[in-house]
Amino acid sequence: MTDFPRLTFSLDRDSKVPVFEQICLTIRQRAISGALAKGSKLPPTRVLATELGVSRSTIVTAYEQLVAEGYLKSLRGSGYTVCALGEVELSGGAKAAQTLPEDEEGEAIVPFEASQPDMRLFPHRQWAKAVSRVCRTNPQAMLVGGGTFGNPELRRAIAQHIAEWRGIDASPQQIIVTAGATDALEICMRSLAQKGDLVGLEDPGYLPMRRFAQAQDLVPLYLAVDEAGAHLPDPAKPPQLVILTPSHQYPLGGAMSPSRRLEFINWADAQNAWIVEDDYDSEFRYAGRPIPAMTGFDRLNRTIYIGSFSKVFSNALRLGYLVVPEALLDRFRTTMRRFGQKASYMPQQALADFMASGEFYRHLRRVRRTYDERRRFLLDQLATEFSAFGRCEDHQAGMQVVFHLADGFDDRDLSARATAQGINLQPLSAYAAHAEGHNGLVMGFCAYSEEEMKPALALLKSCFQQSG
Ligand SMILES: Cc1ncc(COP(=O)(O)O)c(C=O)c1O
Repeated sequence: MTDFPRLTFSLDRDSKVPVFEQICLTIRQRAISGALAKGSKLPPTRVLATELGVSRSTIVTAYEQLVAEGYLKSLRGSGYTVCALGEVELSGGAKAAQTLPEDEEGEAIVPFEASQPDMRLFPHRQWAKAVSRVCRTNPQAMLVGGGTFGNPELRRAIAQHIAEWRGIDASPQQIIVTAGATDALEICMRSLAQKGDLVGLEDPGYLPMRRFAQAQDLVPLYLAVDEAGAHLPDPAKPPQLVILTPSHQYPLGGAMSPSRRLEFINWADAQNAWIVEDDYDSEFRYAGRPIPAMTGFDRLNRTIYIGSFSKVFSNALRLGYLVVPEALLDRFRTTMRRFGQKASYMPQQALADFMASGEFYRHLRRVRRTYDERRRFLLDQLATEFSAFGRCEDHQAGMQVVFHLADGFDDRDLSARATAQGINLQPLSAYAAHAEGHNGLVMGFCAYSEEEMKPALALLKSCFQQSG
C-alpha cells in the first residue's frame, strides 16, 4: 500500500499540449474539485514517472509548475503535498478594480495648453472605415510593418505629401516612419553625433530636446533667436549638427528669413555638419502659401527633415517621419536596426489609405479653418482686452501665440497665478536656457472653442490686475 492517492492520468502523446502540461491539468482539476484533499501527498516523481512511462524530469517540471501556481507545496525530504486552495494568496483582482487617480484617468486639457490639437474634431467615422477596410482586405499589413523603415505605402504617401505641401523632392526610400517627431529627433542625434559632440539648439526652444541631447551625452550649444531666426553657431565652437524650426520657430512663432536659411546651408556645407529641420506643425499656416521647407531649398544635401502626424491628425497615434539624404541612408538604417523601430505598425496602412483617399486632406483643411477662427479670436481678445499688459505678434501660423509682457509683469508669476485659477499657461522664460529678454506667456489656441476661452481669459485678466 502506498500513502499517496491513486491518480489516473489519460495522457495523449499525439496532442499538441505537452505531456507535463497534461499532468498539471489533471492534478489541478483534482485539487480544485477536492478529489485531492489538502495535505495529501503526491506520488514521488520517480514512481509516477515509471507508472506513466515518462522521464522523471517531466514529472518534476509538472510538480514545480504547480508549486509556482500555489496548488502544491514541496517540503524537503517529504515530497510534494496538496495545498488548500485558500493557502494561495490570490488577490482576486481587488487591486485591478481600483479606480485611477483623477489625473491619470486622462488629464483634462484646459486653456491655453500649447501644441494641443482638438481631438473632438478627429474624423472618427472616416478613420473607422479606413481601419476596418484594412482589417477586412489586408490584415497582414497591420502586423508586418515593411521592415526597418516602415510601411511602404505610407512612405509613398508621405513622399507625395511633402512634395505637394513642403516642396521637398524625395523618393519613398528616403522616408523613415517614426514614433512621432520626438522619436525622429532622437534617431537623428543617435545617427549624426557621438558622445561629447556639440549639438546646436534654438534658445528658446522645445524643452525636451535638451534632455534628449543630454541623455545621449551630447552637449547642447544654445543658439539665440532673433526676428530672422536662430543665430549661426560661433565659428570657434562648431557643432556636429543643429536642430532648427525654420518654418515656424518654436515657441516664438516667426519664420527664418531666406538669407539666414542660406547662411545655415552654406555653414553646414563648409563644416560638414548637418541641419535637422523640425517641421512638426508646418501644415498650420493660415494665410498665404505655405513657406517651403528649408530641406527643399537645400535639396536634401545637408538637411534632414522631420514631420509629424501628432498635430495634424492625432497625438495618440504616435506617428511621424524622417526624410534622409541618400548619403545618410545606411547610417540611419544601422541606427534603426540597433535601437529598433518604435512606430506601431498597426495604423500605418490605414493612414496610407486615408491619405490616398483624400480624407486626410479634408480633415486637415477642416481643422485648419477652425484653428484659424480660434487664433483670430484669441489675438483679437489680446489686442483689445489685454493691451495694457503686453502685445502679441501675429505670425499667421502654428498652434500657439506668445503674449510678450509689458514692463512690470513677470511671466513665471503670472503663470503661477493662472495655474492656481485652473488655467494652463507656460512662461516663455521656461523655454529658454538664457531667459533674459524672454518674458511672455505661451498660449495654445487650437484645442479650445471661443466659449471655452472666454472664461479663461476673464480669469487671466484678473490675474494681471492682481499682479500689476
Ligand atoms: C518643436 C517640437 N518638436 C517636436 C515635437 C514633438 O512632436 P511629436 O508629438 O510628433 O513627438 C513638439 C511637440 O509639441 C514640438 O513642439
